[in-house]
Amino acid sequence: MRLIVTDSYEKMGMEAANIVAGQVYLKPNSVLGLATGSTPVSMYQRLVAVHQSVGLDFSEVTTFNLDEYIGMSPDNPQSYHYFMQENFFRHINIRPENVFLPNGMAEDMVAEGERYEQLIESRGGIDLQVLGIGQNAHIGFNEPDLKFAATTHKVELDEETIQANSRFFKSAAEVPRYAISMGIKTIMMAEHVILLANGRNKAEAVRKAVCGDVTPEAPASILQLHRDVVVIVEREAAALL
Ligand code: GLP
Repeated sequence: MRLIVTDSYEKMGMEAANIVAGQVYLKPNSVLGLATGSTPVSMYQRLVAVHQSVGLDFSEVTTFNLDEYIGMSPDNPQSYHYFMQENFFRHINIRPENVFLPNGMAEDMVAEGERYEQLIESRGGIDLQVLGIGQNAHIGFNEPDLKFAATTHKVELDEETIQANSRFFKSAAEVPRYAISMGIKTIMMAEHVILLANGRNKAEAVRKAVCGDVTPEAPASILQLHRDVVVIVEREAAALL
């Protein structure tokens, strides 16, 4: 693991965007794994700025998002489909046919998980995966568990995650209870990984990810076993390192 500590949220996003931009510049048909949540917003803003200023070209790029809430249609403003359109895709020249997220409206989530995994494989696998981290050290929606979940699958969200994500909804009661998420193996198969975190409320999760035991009770800790991870944390999230 390599660790970059920045003195602001904006600089965290800038460091991350530089890595993503470098990947796309060197390999224009890169396959990116993308994350939602408030953490990567500054990275997306910076990437949009780079696209607009120097014409960073996304026309051959393919993206796969980590996860989606179950029961959320893409036009629902709280869906991750919508989030990605608003924060990133509509500002760059990516082709709609190269954008993929798990389908939270699928009838059969087992089949949807298999379909998603096959799609990733058919595009040659993920070159660079961007991750945020939950307060309970989840990545994607892989919650603390007794074992590491392998591939894309249906997840029941932890109460802590529901509470944390309720800030995007009118109330905790409105937060979906289930999601479909890439699994730990899906994430670990990526060639390169960057993990982002900001804020004091992420410090314990970052400590577990970077220097805790490797255990499914702290899903992000598995990243210690990945061959190429850059952890980019704003200093408050690095407080316990
Ligand atoms: C969400 C997402 C994760 C994200 C995490 C942190 O539940 N499924 O992919 O990394 O929680 O979110 P935030 O960046 O808003 O703190």
